[in-house]
Amino acid sequence: MAEEEEKRANIEEQYVTFRSHEFKRNNREEGDKLVLVTRPLSVATEQFLSIRTSLDFIVEEDAVKVMVVTSCEQNSGKTLISANLAISFARGGKKTLIIDGDLRNPSLQRYFYCDRNRGLSSIGDISQLKDNIFETEQENLYILPAGSININPADYFKSSKMKEIFNELRMHFDIIIVDTPPLLAVSDASVVSNYADGIIVVFRSGKTKLKNAKKTLRILEQSPTPVIGSILNDTNEFRDDYYYNYNYTKSF
Ligand SMILES: Nc1ncnc2c1ncn2[C@@H]1O[C@H](COP(=O)(O)OP(=O)(O)O)[C@@H](O)[C@H]1O
Ligand SMILES: [Mg+2]
Repeated sequence: MAEEEEKRANIEEQYVTFRSHEFKRNNREEGDKLVLVTRPLSVATEQFLSIRTSLDFIVEEDAVKVMVVTSCEQNSGKTLISANLAISFARGGKKTLIIDGDLRNPSLQRYFYCDRNRGLSSIGDISQLKDNIFETEQENLYILPAGSININPADYFKSSKMKEIFNELRMHFDIIIVDTPPLLAVSDASVVSNYADGIIVVFRSGKTKLKNAKKTLRILEQSPTPVIGSILNDTNEFRDDYYYNYNYTKSF
């Protein structure tokens, strides 16, 4: 119980923001949004490094290695945040793997060059795992893309092969970040979180509906994997006030 309370305290500390106004001028270029690379001195970079610092503590204390990034709905910023967070860990000297676990709408390849025909869905058996992992241009950062084989993601994530894949990956990487589809749309994120040590949930300011946020939190409360962080994406001061008024980050 005491341990549970401690985890909750950590969650509140990780209430952080990532502001879109930083990108107004060049909003069409997705690669530009890898702020750690393109804008090392920006507020957003500072924010990612500070998220990593808070997570570092949990990573060390609670032996967290595999983290799933999820949200209520699409366009919350899961993929963008997963990518920046992965670079933050890699910069901190951790051998990091980012997995595109959104097999229905793979999008990590917008940020990292990789062979789209290979990846998670293309792993025939465990011996082919390493052929589907690519080095990125970022030191210490590797990617396992979604792959191009048409399979049923929910069944695939439940398969014994998936368990084997995660067991094997744990032996080779310090940190594994898994980008997933939205929690309210499909069960994939819940299933994948069974292989993870912690869940990071992303809300998009002004877009995530309170009703959906609450529903998501209820689902996550049932999960055996703890929520280790929440990220309020794309805020400005006005919207911060809005959310404080609605008290919704406190529902953790
Ligand atoms: N804080 C932000 N500032 C600017 N653009 C953002 C921000 N968060 C997300 N986006 C953009 O919004 C779109 C959806 O984000 P994405 O990460 O793909 O969401 P999800 O993975 O949750 O569907 C992308 O074009 C992304 O670059
Ligand atoms: Mg996505």
